[in-house]
Amino acid sequence: MNTQILTDTAKAMMADDKGLLAMDESHPTCNKRFAKLGIPQTMEARRAYRELIVTTPGLGECISGVILFDETIRQQKQDGTPFLQVLAGAGIIPGIKVDTGAKDLAAHPGEKITEGLDGLRDRLKEYFQMGARFAKWRAVIIIGNGLPSRGCLEANAHGLARYAALCQEAGLVPIVEPEVLMDGDHSLERCAEVTEEVLRTVFNQLNSQRVVLEGMILKPNMVLPGLTCPLRQEVKEVGIGEQQYQVRLTDQPLDEAQAVDEVADATVKSLWRTVPAAVPGIAFLSGGQSAELASARLNVMNHRFKAQLPWALAFSFARAIQQPALETWRGEESNVQAAQQVLLHRAQCNRAARRGEYTTAMERT
Ligand code: 13P
Repeated sequence: MNTQILTDTAKAMMADDKGLLAMDESHPTCNKRFAKLGIPQTMEARRAYRELIVTTPGLGECISGVILFDETIRQQKQDGTPFLQVLAGAGIIPGIKVDTGAKDLAAHPGEKITEGLDGLRDRLKEYFQMGARFAKWRAVIIIGNGLPSRGCLEANAHGLARYAALCQEAGLVPIVEPEVLMDGDHSLERCAEVTEEVLRTVFNQLNSQRVVLEGMILKPNMVLPGLTCPLRQEVKEVGIGEQQYQVRLTDQPLDEAQAVDEVADATVKSLWRTVPAAVPGIAFLSGGQSAELASARLNVMNHRFKAQLPWALAFSFARAIQQPALETWRGEESNVQAAQQVLLHRAQCNRAARRGEYTTAMERT
């Protein structure tokens, strides 16, 4: 294993206040998002959409790496230029999703285990030869009555660690993604408790499997109250629920938006307690937050804590970068340019958030 190459790649992924763009939706996920907007669920529509993303002018100024899906890494622009060549031209590092999805965990009703270890060594070798330099594996943790169970946490952490060790053997930086879902009625405090337990379990397993921490990136959830948390409903009525946060954000300076601060504080506190300083970067998933809130929360974390933290706090968003652009595109060739502008704008907002310089005024330009 060449540790130097891994640490160099991980550093490059976090460099210059850029971040990662996840465009690795599986067919069912991509089709579901297309169906909602009346876009045909075909391979050609997926190709055209991904061409829109990778050919966005200026994307490489804000995005250091993109996470591709197996179908996408093999695709080309309409004129025959491989996507990988387009990305190389833009100075963007290609990455690849290598898990094969979350399935029901036997004997654990309501819980999931991520699969994909069988044959992984050979698949990683192929992806490396194609030009990929990092990979992603997502584990899903559900908060519920008596959940998550110890068995679920250990099984998923073990899978993440086995995957990460295989990636490093193949020269790919593993993105280790244990996602605590927003679904449920749990409080922010419960999310913090579970997130910390998950991360402790994951880092124990990473150590057991001899994963080099300097050559990996952690992709966690932000610490948030559940989507149906009664407290969230209550505060909604008085004006600081998920929708109203946005109103607050446009009306007041960011650092006065208490709801954003709470999430930023709780997230940094949980990471501070559990993530070793040797890890070079933490790149958040967006998990269903609105694009603006994801930027605002990342911004406050960096604005308040950046100077004290051992790791970079970055982004690896899918929906929070792509969704507004997808809604602009709607499968129409005539909307491509406008959608690319919207995509670039979100990338720029998130780069500003890495510097603690994002303001809601950016949303009005
Ligand atoms: P979201 O940002 O939409 O949560 O997606 C991130 C991701 O890569 C999920 O694995």
